[in-house]
Amino acid sequence: MKQEEFFSEDILSGKLYNRTVVKKLLSYVMRYKVSGLLSVLMVIATTVLFLMGPYLFGYAIDHGITKGDKSLIYKIALSLLAIQTLRLILIVVQSYNIQAIGQKVMLDMRMELFRHVQSLPVSFFDKNPVGRIVTRLTNDIGAIGELFSAGVIVVIGDICIIIGIFVAMFMLNVQLAFITLGVFPIIVIIAVLFGNRMKNSFREIRRKLARINSSMNENITGMKVIQLFNKEQKFYDKFNEINNDYLKEQVKYIRYFAVFQPMINMVSALAIGLVLWYGAVRHMHGFLTLGVLVAFLAYVHDLFEPIRDIVEKYNIFQGAMVSAERIFGLMKEPSEVDYIISNPAREVFKNDFKGEIRFENVWFAYNGDDYVLKDISFHIEPGQSVALVGVTGSGKTSIASVLTRLYEIQKGTIWFDTYDIQKIEKVGLRYVIGLVSQDIFLFAGTLRDNITLFKPSPDSQVLGKIETIGLMPFIERIPGGLDAEIAERGANLSVGERQFISLSRIILYDPRVIILDEATSSMDPISEVLIQDAIQRVIKERTTIIIAHRLSTILHCDKIIVLNKGMKVEEGTHEELLRIGGLYSKLYRVYMKEELIVHA
Ligand SMILES: Nc1ncnc2c1ncn2[C@@H]1O[C@H](COP(=O)(O)OP(=O)(O)OP(=O)(O)O)[C@@H](O)[C@H]1O
Ligand SMILES: [Mg+2]
Repeated sequence: MKQEEFFSEDILSGKLYNRTVVKKLLSYVMRYKVSGLLSVLMVIATTVLFLMGPYLFGYAIDHGITKGDKSLIYKIALSLLAIQTLRLILIVVQSYNIQAIGQKVMLDMRMELFRHVQSLPVSFFDKNPVGRIVTRLTNDIGAIGELFSAGVIVVIGDICIIIGIFVAMFMLNVQLAFITLGVFPIIVIIAVLFGNRMKNSFREIRRKLARINSSMNENITGMKVIQLFNKEQKFYDKFNEINNDYLKEQVKYIRYFAVFQPMINMVSALAIGLVLWYGAVRHMHGFLTLGVLVAFLAYVHDLFEPIRDIVEKYNIFQGAMVSAERIFGLMKEPSEVDYIISNPAREVFKNDFKGEIRFENVWFAYNGDDYVLKDISFHIEPGQSVALVGVTGSGKTSIASVLTRLYEIQKGTIWFDTYDIQKIEKVGLRYVIGLVSQDIFLFAGTLRDNITLFKPSPDSQVLGKIETIGLMPFIERIPGGLDAEIAERGANLSVGERQFISLSRIILYDPRVIILDEATSSMDPISEVLIQDAIQRVIKERTTIIIAHRLSTILHCDKIIVLNKGMKVEEGTHEELLRIGGLYSKLYRVYMKEELIVHA
């Protein structure tokens, strides 16, 4: 994937409200209806309690202070205290409640997404970089969490407060309410002006942060090359540039913010000034009580805080919306189609499967019409071992991939006994067929975990199986034995040790058909003999396909199939193929020379 493409994906679409996305998001929240409803009710209650403050204050002035009613003042003071206390308690409970909902929604989404990613075809992972998928599962889900923790309910509260204040204002005094409303166009202009700039700047910040992350990622994974070729300074300069870019954008954003806040405060002061001036005049003429004026001023003062809050939260909303869009986009990626057929059920299939494999005019392409397997037909009897031979890129690994249905073929049929493999449930298929891949993947964990693939099994059984194929010397050589800690991707093991693990893995899995995609790297002659010997024992009594790079392995096979540019060009035993004098005999002569050199 090109870098630009990756970045452009991080540009926010700019849409704040997308109906289908909001609907989907709501469907997650609806799983926690009761707590959700409770939160909304509590927000409304806190708003009402909040609005009561200025009103009671004004009431105390008009009916208590001016009339000298001490007991009323006392009562109102106590009520104000009670209201504030109740409001604070509600806020605490409410904030806990909404954040808990947010966390649960995040957990649900993450699990659902993980399950979905597990169901995606291997070809999806060819086309999508790991970084992007991980971002979906972490950052994007995090953005949704933020929507709950910092955003949605506070904004609902803010909107309630704004509406509530206006209702209270119009109830108290219509003229003053209209005066306050008069400054609103200015607010709208400021909000639009700064909102847009802040939005663009925020988008740039995200984009530049993504660049920092991906550059960091590249630098760390490529550290070996960077150090070996003395390219530290070059990559330092490159990173420095990206980092400075990010700083510039951040400063810009902070500047907008710094100006935006005082602007809103100015408008707030303007509104307060207008109300004070007009209210005072009205009061002097006896049209307005002092209490109403004070209450009004308090409302005007409180009106601007939620407005500022909403404009500032805009980015969180937009970020969450884009993240949600991306998450749901990934969820829409089609899962592998699996023909679940009732018969044969997988156990039945496993038990009565004899181990016969037949390719019938198979065509396969990774992309479009770019066929890498062309009209391949061959037949393997139960228990036979067959070698696939051919130069690099001739399609050997691809045959293994379509046989295990990591990829689906486009034309022709692959038969397992009398079953078309496309009609066998994948789970069932993978019970009977095992692949030792060319690139061996190891998980972080112990040696035992990597051999059993985290299936609890007694050590005696594990060691017993390893013993039967004669690979104990490997275990004895690894310090710690089965308990040895394996680093991520097996970084602390030699290539030979990794091969040993993958062979032990397949032996424990014990499938009826084994495909061995040999790694090309050579080992010391003693280990080589051990591994070759183990392979011979593994393939006994099983149908085996060996993608062989070593002559010693090929010689033991019942049949050899020679591939060239995705086509089958020769088939037969070693002697037969030598007699024909085609591609195989050419390859064989090269092999012979190499073997002579290696073992000289
Ligand atoms: N995931 C993929 N997506 C697209 N094309 C691929 C993919 N994997 C392999 N190919 C292409 O398919 C062709 C056959 O590749 P394949 O891996 O089957 O070769 P091979 O015979 O196993 O080679 P080697 O001996 O080097 O392992 C090659 O041209 C390769 O570029
Ligand atoms: Mg290969």
